[in-house]
Amino acid sequence: MPALVLLGAQWGDEGKGKATDLLGGSVDYVVRYQGGNNAGHTVVVGDQKYALHLLPSGILSPGCTPVIGNGVVVDPSVLLSELSGLNERGVDTSKLLISGNAHIITPYNVTVDKVTERFLGKRKIGTTGRGIGPTYADKINRVGIRVQDLYDESILTQKVEAALDVKNQLLTKLYNRRVIAVDQVVEELLGYAEKIKPYVADTVLVLNQALDDDKVVLFEGGQGTLLDIDHGTYPFVTSSNPTAGGACTGSGVGPTKISRVIGILKAYTTRVGSGPFPTELFDEDGEALRRIGGERGVTTGRDRRCGWFDAVIARYATRVNGLTDFFLTKLDVLTGWEQIPVCVAYEIDGERVEELPYSQTDFHHAKPVYEYLPGWQEDITKAKTFADLPKNAQAYVKALEEMSGAPISAIGVGPGRDETIEINSFI
Ligand code: GDP
Ligand code: IMO
Ligand code: MG
Repeated sequence: MPALVLLGAQWGDEGKGKATDLLGGSVDYVVRYQGGNNAGHTVVVGDQKYALHLLPSGILSPGCTPVIGNGVVVDPSVLLSELSGLNERGVDTSKLLISGNAHIITPYNVTVDKVTERFLGKRKIGTTGRGIGPTYADKINRVGIRVQDLYDESILTQKVEAALDVKNQLLTKLYNRRVIAVDQVVEELLGYAEKIKPYVADTVLVLNQALDDDKVVLFEGGQGTLLDIDHGTYPFVTSSNPTAGGACTGSGVGPTKISRVIGILKAYTTRVGSGPFPTELFDEDGEALRRIGGERGVTTGRDRRCGWFDAVIARYATRVNGLTDFFLTKLDVLTGWEQIPVCVAYEIDGERVEELPYSQTDFHHAKPVYEYLPGWQEDITKAKTFADLPKNAQAYVKALEEMSGAPISAIGVGPGRDETIEINSFI
């Protein structure tokens, strides 16, 4: 069985953590391939609720090896506190593997993220303030610090010096902040080195050997398609590639090994931070979605912006990721509406547009064209099969499937592991 990818088809928070956890019991490896602790994944197992940021959601499945791939950015303090938090709750984390090539989020990257956002003022991106963008910028500028650098003090010192040379100029002269001392950063990073060492591995080799041995590898995306640095609503995006191609570059596994790409799709839409969002609601319906769906950020505690389902975006996600199927989440949240609007196209400057416009200006002007589907009033949280759903809920799912360009293989009807209707088996 080759590899499969599970990723966000919208702007993040689609329920990837729950979906990954659900599959975790049947796969051998769960791999994060991009992003860092900007992610916030909630997993509910029985009466226990876990909030994961950096660790792959597979960490909660005993038989599964969780892997942090080379494409991820790692904040060592967050890593260690997340691990100890899980250990205190009796979760065994000893199988975790971390790529020596993953980049480290240094304390100065976090500082730069925060001061840059402040400097941008009204034009800010609304980042999570976790140092994600500046760390990827250092990686691309070739002044990044990698996990493996923690094990050579002299190299580490030289690299931190090189990174801080320019940053200290910016911090003091432009942002009016204090100089960050090289020694202090090096000392802090060295303090993490030994604690992280048992997990560091050649993850490229491990994963490719596992695939050669017919093990099942699941790639778990952070964020979502529309937050992708290349394919998202740039510049209101994150600084990595959550889209399917990122699974290859962020792990060192070739595309020929991937046989299935599953898009996690919420039955409505949410977004955190700045940027265009055609179906966003500013009325009591938006408030109701936020309240019923519990749409508050796991990472920053910010209220999520809420709106109706957008089929244009779903079709786009199918295309740029080569999606084979969808996992539709949070259908239960829509119970109780008389009718449910679904955006089927946009109107841009008086013209009907069926596909996502490549021009940022056009997308900012896009107004949703809605079709109204009949709602349902029955509680669906106990539904176990598609046939258990009320007729109108079935029709809603079928309509979304038709509009989105790929079959829906599972439906979430509640946050728990077992609150899922499986239509086609994933493994
Ligand atoms: P992620 O970032 O994609 O992993 O998603 P988050 O965990 O940030 O947000 C999804 C939220 O929805 C979490 O609180 C989940 O527990 C919850 N959730 C996931 N699937 C469902 C579902 O089918 N129904 C309901 N009601 N909640 C769900
Ligand atoms: P999960 O994995 C939703 C958003 C931020 C901001 C933009 C850039 O839980 O789906 P960054 O800190 O990454 O530089 O911020 O991206 N963002 C997310 N929105 N879910 C996430 O992760 C997100 N991670 C980043 O709000 O708009
Ligand atoms: Mg989230």
